[in-house]
Amino acid sequence: MTILAGKRVVLGVCGSIAAFKAAQLCSTLVQAGAEVDVILTRAAREFVTPLTFQSLTRRAVYGDLYGDVAANPSLSSAHVDVGMHADVLVVCPATATTIARLAHGLADDMLACTALVSRAPLVIAPAMNVGMWEHLATQANVATLLARGATQVGPTFGRLAEGISGMGRLAPLEDVVGATRAALGRGGPLAGRRVVVTAGGTHEPIDPVRFVGNRSSGKMGHALAEAARDAGAMVVLVTGPVSLARPWGIEVVPVETARQMADATLGACEGADLLVMAAAVADYRPAVESDRKLKRSGDALAITLAPNPDILATVSARFGDRLVKVGFAAETGEVAAEATRKLHAKGAHLICANDVSEVGSGFGTDTNRVTMFGRDGSVEALPMLPKPEVATLIIARAGALVAARGGATA
Ligand code: C5P
Repeated sequence: MTILAGKRVVLGVCGSIAAFKAAQLCSTLVQAGAEVDVILTRAAREFVTPLTFQSLTRRAVYGDLYGDVAANPSLSSAHVDVGMHADVLVVCPATATTIARLAHGLADDMLACTALVSRAPLVIAPAMNVGMWEHLATQANVATLLARGATQVGPTFGRLAEGISGMGRLAPLEDVVGATRAALGRGGPLAGRRVVVTAGGTHEPIDPVRFVGNRSSGKMGHALAEAARDAGAMVVLVTGPVSLARPWGIEVVPVETARQMADATLGACEGADLLVMAAAVADYRPAVESDRKLKRSGDALAITLAPNPDILATVSARFGDRLVKVGFAAETGEVAAEATRKLHAKGAHLICANDVSEVGSGFGTDTNRVTMFGRDGSVEALPMLPKPEVATLIIARAGALVAARGGATA
């Protein structure tokens, strides 16, 4: 599970047409194992019903400060209890009115009371008309919340409900989830640490339209970058071409070729505490890249391949053990022997090996079965798990290696 598992999330929903999207967010948080207490403002209840959220969370849904108590006296202290026990408060969508209430410390509805009582991190995902968003009053209120440590996600530019395009659309929900995870992870075991993660395969050009590539989806690397962020780290993700969304709160450096990945990774490793090389780097590239599209002829075509640099080994040669280095070994048999060989050949502290011939493990899948081979001779076999869970366990192990070396560098 990710950092959301077992956490108490208060989800405040305000009266915007984007309120219907909060139901999907709520479902995602529940599926990730969070206990979600939903608070609907009076205006939100005009757009979505408590029953929607009750059904998703199987918990009471809060809203009308006075009506709820009249109907159920046990809720008489809900306006303080919910906020006191929260691990994070997420307001999505956040309207201009609620942002103003929170900025000014008003306590005239259940959501505002909860926010005032709570000391948990606050995440706001604004959604409103572009004029309301750009108004100096709203901007000043958002600035007040940010100065107090709140996280702002969006809004984005796009089509608004009134039919015009402008700034004011709710951010993608995966960004809201990412920001919530990052807020929960603040001050975690990798706080103050710099982590570099590589992901995806590389594309090695043959000519302007063709390349040599591999089947890596980048899912494992992206999950590792998110797990490191959730542990409090500042993360740089160097990624080959993938069809995955940019993860929230992570500096992403997109690259295409192994040589570009080598340059970006070596640059990012300067001053880093941890490198996790999850990328499936092409071992070879076409020795010559044609600047014109190769024409089809009836004959066989021979392409000479030249070796690419081994990025992990190059990082080890340049930086030694100044940072902890984690490598991967995707094998089709002889897993233990190959992992041990790579541990030493590449100067890694940890090699995460998997047998890609096993169904459900490796390229493109959502799950992976990994065994971690440590430089100290330790062997830890993990069961088949979803990649985000594998990532959490690898980052925990790597984080312990970083911690054992002492002093945060930031
Ligand atoms: O040798 P092999 O490609 O199996 O090694 C896998 C490990 O080495 C992975 O961590 C991968 O990211 C890294 N690697 C590298 N540079 C290469 C090839 C692999 O850093 N050119």
